[in-house]
Amino acid sequence: MLNFFNQSGKKINKKILLLSSDEQNYEKGDYKHFMAKEIDEQPNTIKNCVNEYIDKINKDINIFNFPFKEKEINSITLIGCGTAYHSCIIAKYWFEQLTSFDVSVDIASEFRYRKNKFKKDCLYVFVSQSGETADTYAALDLCNKNKMKTCSVVNVIESSIARDSKFVLPIHCGPEIGVASTKAFLGQMLVLYILCLKLAQKRKDISKKDYLIRIKKLFSLAELVKKSLMTEDKIQSICSSFIDAKGSMFLGRGYSFPIALEGALKLKELAYVHAEGYPAGEMKHGPLALIEDGMPVVVIAPRDQHYKKTISNMQEVIARGAKVLLITNKSKDEVYSENIWETIEVENTNDDLFPFLVTIPLQKLAYYSALKKGYDIDKPRNLAKSVTVE
Ligand code: G6P
Repeated sequence: MLNFFNQSGKKINKKILLLSSDEQNYEKGDYKHFMAKEIDEQPNTIKNCVNEYIDKINKDINIFNFPFKEKEINSITLIGCGTAYHSCIIAKYWFEQLTSFDVSVDIASEFRYRKNKFKKDCLYVFVSQSGETADTYAALDLCNKNKMKTCSVVNVIESSIARDSKFVLPIHCGPEIGVASTKAFLGQMLVLYILCLKLAQKRKDISKKDYLIRIKKLFSLAELVKKSLMTEDKIQSICSSFIDAKGSMFLGRGYSFPIALEGALKLKELAYVHAEGYPAGEMKHGPLALIEDGMPVVVIAPRDQHYKKTISNMQEVIARGAKVLLITNKSKDEVYSENIWETIEVENTNDDLFPFLVTIPLQKLAYYSALKKGYDIDKPRNLAKSVTVE
């Protein structure tokens, strides 16, 4: 039995997470690793979640028993750790784009120790796959003690975070065993997007027509995600460059910036190589100095409002010798740039849904890099699936 101590040295009881019967019955099947299975399950994650939240006949989002009046909410604060934190950053972009809320994002371990100005008209949203992350739970607890409006987006519904938040939005993606989160990330993004659309509609921040168009697009998302899975061969052929290099960079703007963070995190977690996610436009303020001949750089640039700017940032790194893997979407227009090392094209959709499609090749990049190195993919060194101690 291991002993755990809090910051003042007092012995605490570590929570032993028992597997739910769902998890006990969840097997790898023909897959070598849970992570590979979980990556492949993502079209189903999307399908299940869409079915749970969207009424196909009425083309409406069902979020029943939401305990707060929309008029009493003027701002949203999204809080999480690790991959869940990245889904919070993406949600910030969606909420800002589609609603009139003031939106902020916080890392739970920072939030819990800052002098926060708690706001009665704020909805505090806690995102956690396990629902047991100690920092996220502590941040929730702090909000509850200050009588704030709290809501959680979790995978494990019988978890502490789900139990203690005033409202719960499950992501319905089934057990996730691989320590590095994959399908739960897509599930978190989807539920946050759905919440954003619903609140935007309730507050009349978007027109009925716009609301319906976006809902319709969600019905085709699973199929598009499925097509993103077909990047296997290309990824396998390029991952050696990432594991042999001193380090790599992942760049994106707008919705693609948090995806760049997530891509870099996945590679670090699994392949134990240095990787940095950065806003593409911020490169010139320092990190550009890192670029040298042959350094692999992933540029995430779907053809959205930021496309041209990101492509111009990409040219800056190519000019300094970087080997660029460009992730964009299919188009009849060629990418206007020379010397791109490799390109991966995802399907077309509306701009706010590109994050779902461009994430998949990055998960595969991390997976195959770790596989090549022979590392323990489902249990990377020094990491735990559920971090229940500080
Ligand atoms: C751990 C895991 C990460 C995960 C983070 C937050 O560090 O290794 O993959 O993103 O915890 O976990 P949660 O369960 O709160 O989403």
